[in-house]
Amino acid sequence: MQCHLEGNAIVEQPGRHLYQFRPGDDLSDFVRYYVLTSDGKEKLRAVSQFEALAQSVCKRSAGDALACTTCHDPHSAPKPAERVAYYRSKCLNCHGEQFATKHHVEQQDCTACHMPRVQALDVAHTQDSDHRILRVPPVPPQNPGSAVDSTATPPVETQLVQFPPANGPESPRGLALAWSSMAAASSQYAADQANKFLTEAVTQNPDDPPVLQALGYMEESRGMPQQAREHYEHALRVNPLAVDAAANLALLEARQGNFDRAITLWKSAFARYPGRSTLGINLARAQCLSGHGDDARASIARVLQFNPDLTLAHDMLRQLQSGEVKCDGK
Ligand code: HEC
Ligand code: HEC
Ligand code: HEC
Repeated sequence: MQCHLEGNAIVEQPGRHLYQFRPGDDLSDFVRYYVLTSDGKEKLRAVSQFEALAQSVCKRSAGDALACTTCHDPHSAPKPAERVAYYRSKCLNCHGEQFATKHHVEQQDCTACHMPRVQALDVAHTQDSDHRILRVPPVPPQNPGSAVDSTATPPVETQLVQFPPANGPESPRGLALAWSSMAAASSQYAADQANKFLTEAVTQNPDDPPVLQALGYMEESRGMPQQAREHYEHALRVNPLAVDAAANLALLEARQGNFDRAITLWKSAFARYPGRSTLGINLARAQCLSGHGDDARASIARVLQFNPDLTLAHDMLRQLQSGEVKCDGK
């Protein structure tokens, strides 16, 4: 599920990180997944095999008797010559040989009709074969993911709900962070939802760094840098290692010409997250602008150690080395 469920938004639990999860742990102790729905019941988006299978009548009726591995090891496939018989036997384990003697005997491949291939345009774990196992599949096969365009304004009744479903009321914190991460993809509706739940979440717990960071980010995008700054500072007082607050605050500082503070913030964040190239690139720019060419070169070299293909970093390093860009503080 950690790999085959994508969700529309992923929210880490307070004080927990996805990378701390180990096989055998309960994944929901670490992260919660959110998916868009139209009325809280029907899923608009069924992109990954996991979400799709959960919607199928087979899974809803058979419950724990149907898992991914009931049909196949998700990481291997039967040989092409055995494929049809292989999946047919899995279906018939539940639906019964008797059923198959009367049902579409002309076509042995159950999956051709009930799990057709759908066009995949999303990321890594997008489902290819329709794991919703529909009775009458849509014709022509369509991508269920296309029902929601995250950049368009979703209909007013659109909600985010936890998947798998929460066993209590949804927490404003979870919804706040989930909507904020979607608002970053520039949907006004998501931004409004984020603001609504962030206000609620920060009232419940005024000292929650991820909420404070998200609040600051939303304020920045609404043209309120002063409020944003206060929330970033607040997040950093609670958790001096809060990386997004540090990175965003550094940008505000740099814009106002406070390069020393910006460099301190970016340096510490980049030392902890050397794989986040933006931190190193911004650090190098601030170092160059404040007259520290050697430091800027060292930062870019560090970016390239972790991200050797980054064209932008190669260009910057070349310009710094050739003297095309001079770090003389002008
Ligand atoms: C673990 C048992 C199990 C397996 C394996 C399974 N199903 Fe099902 N399926 C069910 C149950 C239970 C139902 C609901 C009762 C019924 O219709 O028989 C169901 C319902 C269905 C329905 C009706 C859907 C609807 O909307 O009414 C279809 C179609 C279907 N299954 C096809 C398949 C196909 C094709 C496969 C193999 C790729 C398969 N099933 C594998 C248990 C299973
Ligand atoms: C009812 C049977 C069934 C179940 C249960 C099932 N799958 Fe599949 N899966 C299939 C079939 C059929 C294919 C298509 C294989 C082919 O065409 O060779 C497939 C293909 C895949 C693929 C290859 C990409 C694609 O979508 O075609 C992945 C990955 C996958 N399944 C993951 C999963 C995961 C993860 C689960 C559990 C959440 C799961 N499957 C549960 C029948 C099933
Ligand atoms: C040629 C396409 C096709 C093939 C192949 C096919 N089905 Fe179906 N199946 C359908 C259609 C269409 C329906 C809806 C029937 C209806 O509404 O009258 C259906 C309905 C069902 C149902 C719902 C129960 C019912 O009788 O309405 C199940 C369960 C099911 N199929 C399982 C399977 C299994 C298992 C296989 C493989 C042994 C299979 N199907 C092969 C097209 C197909």
